[in-house]
Amino acid sequence: MIPMLNDEFHFVRAGLRLKNRAVLAPLTHNMSEENGDPGRAELDWLARCAEGGFGLLIGAATQVQAGGRCWPGQPALMTDAQQSAFAKLTQSAEENGALALIQLHHGGVRAQPELNGTAPVGPGAIPPGGRYPLGVSALTGPQILQLIDAFVLAAERAHGAGLHGIELHAAHNFLLCNFLNPLLNRREDGWGGSLAGRARMLLAIVRGIRERLPRSFLIGVRLSPESYAHIEGIQLANQLALVELLVEEDVDYLHFSMGDSFKAASEDPAGGSLLAAVRAGVAGRVPLMVAGKIRDAESAKQALAGGADLVAIGSAAIGNPDWPKRVNLDLPLDQPPFETARLTMSGFTPRAQDYLRSFPGLVAQAS
Ligand SMILES: Cc1cc2nc3c(=O)[nH]c(=O)nc-3n(C[C@H](O)[C@H](O)[C@H](O)COP(=O)(O)O)c2cc1C
Repeated sequence: MIPMLNDEFHFVRAGLRLKNRAVLAPLTHNMSEENGDPGRAELDWLARCAEGGFGLLIGAATQVQAGGRCWPGQPALMTDAQQSAFAKLTQSAEENGALALIQLHHGGVRAQPELNGTAPVGPGAIPPGGRYPLGVSALTGPQILQLIDAFVLAAERAHGAGLHGIELHAAHNFLLCNFLNPLLNRREDGWGGSLAGRARMLLAIVRGIRERLPRSFLIGVRLSPESYAHIEGIQLANQLALVELLVEEDVDYLHFSMGDSFKAASEDPAGGSLLAAVRAGVAGRVPLMVAGKIRDAESAKQALAGGADLVAIGSAAIGNPDWPKRVNLDLPLDQPPFETARLTMSGFTPRAQDYLRSFPGLVAQAS
């Protein structure tokens, strides 16, 4: 039977229920402090989304290790103070009958040298030039082990903050995605080469979290299904082979960041839809979440009918933190580009609005 947006969802293995299928996609908005302390504006905005009816909230990409920072206002989860601050997210979710996760992140080749004071790191060295003014340093084996620990420790801190789980950010050309990418990862030391080698770090993180935390703690993994924009090397066939490994690791959901949930798969000569290909690959063995151009009731329905169990709302939530409530009541949704006044009313700070302006079509031009 095709699920409806308002149907409950059961994470069977974890024994947790969502009140509906509407998920707040992870959205960076630069509203935390320069030292990574989660900002009041960031937590207030997430609270607004909890009040707005989302069944599951996924906090923005959150730093787990020094050197991995990508945005000046990016939250981090590396200290006791940051852990206590995230407890406010748990509280807002629970007051509204929602669950809350945060997305654990390391910028990899996309980490910003000016924020980190060092060159970015990745699976392999890249000489300075072009997109990498300081080049990229190859992580050593011991550094990879430290990184795995950093992700696991951040997950333990998320658990300590009462959060219901974490999502590992393995999409969008950040570190975990860099290791999965055969074009970037040509290592020959067991952390690269075959798919199993390229996936070894991601799988070790999942395993480490499972070993240290109760089974009720949710672990999701976000993946890019294929290459997009300037990112090369991510191929659907490889990502679907990875799904097999993640299913064996007993992850709670897979989150495909589709860009457009309704597009044709680039690698399917027959022009079949990307969602159909992903759905066939996952084959119901683990819950499937998708994000990308799910903007209203109709597109949510279409994604659920196409095989998604959960739909993540990105841009539409920025102008409509109460998206699920509006959709349920059949109220009109604000449409992008969102007016500055609307964003200010939703609690976006001037720095957040500057960042949002970097996404084409998201924010209205000042008149
Ligand atoms: C302002 C903004 C910030 C984003 N931040 C993140 C992030 O922190 N982590 C992530 O995985 N994706 C991030 N994304 C991608 C979204 O989660 C989502 O996949 C994308 O916006 C497509 O969905 P949409 O068409 O509903 O906007 C961001 C997107 C936007 C517009």
